[in-house]
Amino acid sequence: MRYYHTIYCLLLIAGAVSGHKKLITSHPAFADHRFPSIPIECPELGPSGSYLDKDHTSEGAGLIPALSWPSPSDNIDEYLLISEDPDAPTAESIIHGIYYRISREKTGIQHPDFRVKNNTHEPYMLQGGFKYGKNRHDSVYVPPSPFAGHGPHRYFFELIALNNSLETGPMNDLVTLDEVRKAIQGKVAGWGQWVGVYERS
Ligand SMILES: *[C@@H]1O[C@H](CO)[C@@H](O)[C@H](O)[C@H]1NC(C)=O
Ligand SMILES: *[C@@H]1O[C@H](CO)[C@@H](O)[C@H](O)[C@H]1NC(C)=O
Repeated sequence: MRYYHTIYCLLLIAGAVSGHKKLITSHPAFADHRFPSIPIECPELGPSGSYLDKDHTSEGAGLIPALSWPSPSDNIDEYLLISEDPDAPTAESIIHGIYYRISREKTGIQHPDFRVKNNTHEPYMLQGGFKYGKNRHDSVYVPPSPFAGHGPHRYFFELIALNNSLETGPMNDLVTLDEVRKAIQGKVAGWGQWVGVYERS
């Protein structure tokens, strides 16, 4: 029993470490900012590490967690938000959402922010005044839907503060994670994360 428990713990630790390497925040652009510095709260679900309720998964309304954070320091120009699952059995994280050009005026995101804004010449613009990038379904957000029996998955929501706005000119209209990774080089001025956990039995 004890033996199996030890193996299980080692697997958990290995899983956490390998998961960590997949996260955008372990990319070289974060070399000067290894640790989170922005506290992110999710009043509707609780502290980071909380379980997602049904409405925040593919089995319910599929809502993105509403998050909040403090006012930025003067050097922050805009934010970027990535939602990824490093616990999927794939070489790279599964990307659930990419949101960019989030104004420095914003100190949180709410559910209505993620509605598509149609009355604009700008594609992929959302009601929150920011744009969305490419996830695995080319949709605004892919709600968590892990394989049944695959154990708990962590859904990272990473808010990245940039000290210079992203240059989106050279990017696709539907911006990819690779493009984002390159574009934030030399612009990361801090970050924070909130993690939701979900498991399907
Ligand atoms: C935008 O268009 C989609 C699809 O036609 C529609 O479902 C959605 O309600 C529209 N959003 C707004 C804010 O009008
Ligand atoms: C922005 O942040 C990067 C990475 O921390 C830093 O190297 C750069 O000097 C900063 N630029 C400005 C304009 O503050």
